[in-house]
Amino acid sequence: MDGGVARALPRRALTWPLLSPFWPARSATEHGLAPTFVGMKTRNGASLAMLLAVALVGCRDIEAIERVSLDDLDTTERARIDLGQRLFFDPALSADGTVSCASCHLPSDGGDDGRRVGVGVAGQEGRRNAPTVLNVGFKQHLFWDGRAETLEEQALMPLFADDEMAADRSTVEVYLAGDPLYPGMFAEAFPGMPPTIDLVAMAIASYERALVAPSRVDAFLLGEEAALSETEVRGMDYFRSNCAFCHDGPGVGGQRFARLGEEVPFPRDRQDDQGLFERTGDEGDKMTFVIPQLRNVGRTAPYFHDGSVETLEEAVELMARHQLGEELDDKTIADVAAFLRALDGDVEPALARDPFGDRGGTVR
Ligand code: HEC
Ligand code: HEC
Repeated sequence: MDGGVARALPRRALTWPLLSPFWPARSATEHGLAPTFVGMKTRNGASLAMLLAVALVGCRDIEAIERVSLDDLDTTERARIDLGQRLFFDPALSADGTVSCASCHLPSDGGDDGRRVGVGVAGQEGRRNAPTVLNVGFKQHLFWDGRAETLEEQALMPLFADDEMAADRSTVEVYLAGDPLYPGMFAEAFPGMPPTIDLVAMAIASYERALVAPSRVDAFLLGEEAALSETEVRGMDYFRSNCAFCHDGPGVGGQRFARLGEEVPFPRDRQDDQGLFERTGDEGDKMTFVIPQLRNVGRTAPYFHDGSVETLEEAVELMARHQLGEELDDKTIADVAAFLRALDGDVEPALARDPFGDRGGTVR
């Protein structure tokens, strides 16, 4: 750690090697390909694989992120990201040619779709709120119930899900092989390998890992004190002492699971979705969800796994009540919401661009 990150942290801060140095590369290694963990680094220039969780004694804390310039990537990495971006925006991959990943995760607008639940091919509604894909490379567990661990594994799920893109493996492979651009792009991104669905997943994952969006909070943590207003700093102080126990790390969440209603049970009529319990059947997993990342949360309303919470203020109030057993006054709610909005950030403009221009890819 150089002075940058450490200086912004409380004096008693200690470095805590919480993350295995190898976790981010695991997926790529499993695929037998060189890891392309790009687009992320810490202040001291280490790759994300070297990120250290920094915490107060006995506490967890939020962590600053910084972006690597696309110009600094090697050509293969850059080619994978470009390919992934095209695939991400391509509605032709879906069964009826109308839905792309970007339909539900628009990188230029918070990385989600602004809807309560996802809407897939033929207008079919899912049951959960679409999380943002911005900064998703920092997440340890994917989906609200954590049923995917890696972005490669995750990417193929919506592609083939009947209520999302309902694609078919061989149709996609035939389409990619017959396209004027894709074969050349695959050859550049994955030299010597025939285009397959697994490479589609690899490329999309590379693109998603590059969607790093630092915010004013990061500037502040790295020493630029004027980056946050007094209100935002008050909100941050409250957050770091009360909320960062769960919403911690580089993504300000996404590191582990927690029960919604830890202190005060969530209303019974809002318990239709039991999260992790639906996968494990274990009583202790009832109402347990992956703790969401809060970066860009100012732009991803509505909130919670079912999209039932309309405003950020209401989300903060409910969190304090159900997770901490605390009723917050309006001023504290406003401070915390202001801090959360200061976590907004943008990805490199080139990465938010729809490669299909006006012709689709963003069916909204
Ligand atoms: C119809 C809307 C829809 C489409 C199309 C869609 N997604 Fe999603 N996505 C969702 C929803 C809803 C969830 C949460 C589902 C859950 O947790 O059960 C999700 C979850 C995710 C996550 C996990 C995020 C997190 O924080 O855990 C990633 C990554 C993701 N999608 C990427 C993609 C990619 C890549 C594609 C294209 C191949 C895609 N999505 C297509 C709606 C969509
Ligand atoms: C015990 C762990 C825990 C604590 C403490 C906690 N949260 Fe959460 N937070 C969660 C979980 C789990 C969810 C997901 C709830 C759901 O989806 O239904 C969540 C969701 C949220 C969301 C909605 C995010 C989204 O994209 O939908 C916000 C905003 C939020 N928390 C802010 C806070 C704030 C502010 C505090 C402190 C007052 C806090 N949280 C304390 C676990 C926690």
